[in-house]
Amino acid sequence: MKTILETPRLLLREMTRDDLPALWEIVGDDETMYAWNGAWSEQENVEGLEKQLRGYRENGFGRWAVVLKATGRVVGMCGLMWGDTDSGRVPEIGYLFNRAFWHNGYAAEAAVGCRRYAFDALGFDEVFAVVRDTNLASMNVAIRAGMTVRGRFTKHYRGVDMPHYVFSVRR
Ligand SMILES: CC(C)(COP(=O)(O)OP(=O)(O)OC[C@H]1O[C@@H](n2cnc3c(N)ncnc32)[C@H](O)[C@@H]1OP(=O)(O)O)[C@@H](O)C(=O)NCCC(=O)NCCS
Repeated sequence: MKTILETPRLLLREMTRDDLPALWEIVGDDETMYAWNGAWSEQENVEGLEKQLRGYRENGFGRWAVVLKATGRVVGMCGLMWGDTDSGRVPEIGYLFNRAFWHNGYAAEAAVGCRRYAFDALGFDEVFAVVRDTNLASMNVAIRAGMTVRGRFTKHYRGVDMPHYVFSVRR
């Protein structure tokens, strides 16, 4: 298992197929997935993981498993991916946490770690978060990671028009 980065309470490492049950607790939950218009199926969970494993090989980065150092428990996913905006492809920090572990500052802590990794290890000069306009929790995580709003555009997903804000922070 490849460790990517550490923060005071968290360790971010590449996901493996052994993580599928922990990931299912997250993506199989309707409330957690409301920004995607509802829970994924188990098949979508498997496909989502395979996409990340391919991304690690092709890009050298992706969405990583977030592990609580104190217990070894996988509590979320956070990492970097290529994201689409109206002005092209951008390196995007994404985060999704198990609802049982929300409101502990974990997402903000992980996002700050990913920002540091994006600048120092990957050499990006700017990193982004693309957030649905209804997702206050996610906007607050972006703000806690030092980001500000740069623009907005509409994404089309699962047949729905979803206005999104583009946040970013520069090196
Ligand atoms: C977004 C998410 C990752 C936040 O996780 P979290 O670990 O609870 O976030 P944190 O505890 O680090 O909180 C970060 C900031 O957001 C705020 N926040 C957290 N949940 C919030 C909510 N439901 N509404 C408004 N603000 C919220 C916190 O107050 C905190 O700000 P502060 O430090 O100034 O008080 C989590 O809610 C989640 O997994 N949501 C579903 C997936 C998702 O929508 N991901 C983002 C897609 S763009």
